[in-house]
Amino acid sequence: MVKAAIIGYGGIGKWHHQGIREAVPGLEVIGAYDVREEALAESKANGLKAYGSAQELFDDPAVQLVIITTPNDSHKEYIIRGLKAGKHVLCEKPVVLSSADLREAIEVSKDAPGVFTIHQNRRWDKDFQIVKSLIHDGKIGKPYFIESRVHGSSVFLHGWRGHKINGGGMLYDWGVHLIDQALQLLPEKVTSVTAQLFSVHAQEVDDNFKLLLGFESGVSVLIEVATNCFIPAPRWHVSGEVGTVVIQDWRCDGRIVKLAEDQEFTWEPDIIYTPAGPTRTMAPRPPETMVEYPLPELKDAHGNVYHQWSSVDIFYHNLLDAIAGKAELYVKPEEALRVMDIIELAFQSSREGRGLACSI
Ligand SMILES: NC(=O)c1ccc[n+]([C@@H]2O[C@H](COP(=O)([O-])OP(=O)(O)OC[C@H]3O[C@@H](n4cnc5c(N)ncnc54)[C@H](O)[C@@H]3O)[C@@H](O)[C@H]2O)c1
Repeated sequence: MVKAAIIGYGGIGKWHHQGIREAVPGLEVIGAYDVREEALAESKANGLKAYGSAQELFDDPAVQLVIITTPNDSHKEYIIRGLKAGKHVLCEKPVVLSSADLREAIEVSKDAPGVFTIHQNRRWDKDFQIVKSLIHDGKIGKPYFIESRVHGSSVFLHGWRGHKINGGGMLYDWGVHLIDQALQLLPEKVTSVTAQLFSVHAQEVDDNFKLLLGFESGVSVLIEVATNCFIPAPRWHVSGEVGTVVIQDWRCDGRIVKLAEDQEFTWEPDIIYTPAGPTRTMAPRPPETMVEYPLPELKDAHGNVYHQWSSVDIFYHNLLDAIAGKAELYVKPEEALRVMDIIELAFQSSREGRGLACSI
């Protein structure tokens, strides 16, 4: 049984605690530290040892794994202290706020006995797993344009998420997940980054952004995050050479439409007289040339239907195997470094109002 302690017993800290209890029998959370008295009291009420300081937690020999779930600006210090204290370290995303900081943490981890990983849990979201499987199976042919969006309308960036000093803003918050997913989908180099960040209602940070990533083989990924969008576009829209996939939302409503097996791409379309004028190019495709499929029903690592704690189960079991020296980490810090390099270019691209070539 590996024993863990949580630093930052807030929203996601409590979620980790509950998820581990529900889905990870080989791991036990024994304590927590938080700067807020109420959070410490809550951790105690939930059966944990409440540490009086982070140092007390790092000094406790019973703690083997430190789970860092504090606001983004405090991650770097806790990662380095945890690794130097000989602990395994799992840090929430974004792991730190710059590539330079992550390089520093990676250097420290090379001399440390513990495993160091990052909670890029959205690699195991059901919608993402469906897109990944469809692309890898070639269901719609070679993809050439992938749109990945999270559109909300709450407008409000709660607490530290609205503050620059804490590493707030949507590029760090959701961008880091969606960029990580894009890099997992396409195992090739990113060759261009073009971004536009908006602060529609937030005072200090971006609350909406649009980011276009160009990849080596010519595929592009458009990533959009909005907190001010009253009519959301689909979560995924994937254009492949012989078909299209749409996933509307996290409930995974959606469909695949592709060219029917025995059909040619082209037919001789009639001119269609639309309210906007005549068109042949945009004439509707004859229904018999297409076939529609439902989205596949994916199973998790144990062959079960995806459930609330699937990602916790998959992520933590891999982490425990890596700690035991039985497996490679699923989320390697070097992968987060690519994401961080792209985020830095996205900030620069938006500031300078131009796309940037790169090789990441
Ligand atoms: N992977 C995911 O799906 C996911 C989801 C939500 C949040 N997160 C990440 O988790 C982290 C926390 O987010 P949250 O939504 O839980 O925030 P939160 O504000 O709900 O909780 C943060 C907690 O940390 C405590 N805290 C603040 N500064 C501290 C410090 N220096 N030392 C110790 N405790 C401190 C706060 O008192 C609070 O209890 C962020 O990095 C965020 O990006 C990840």
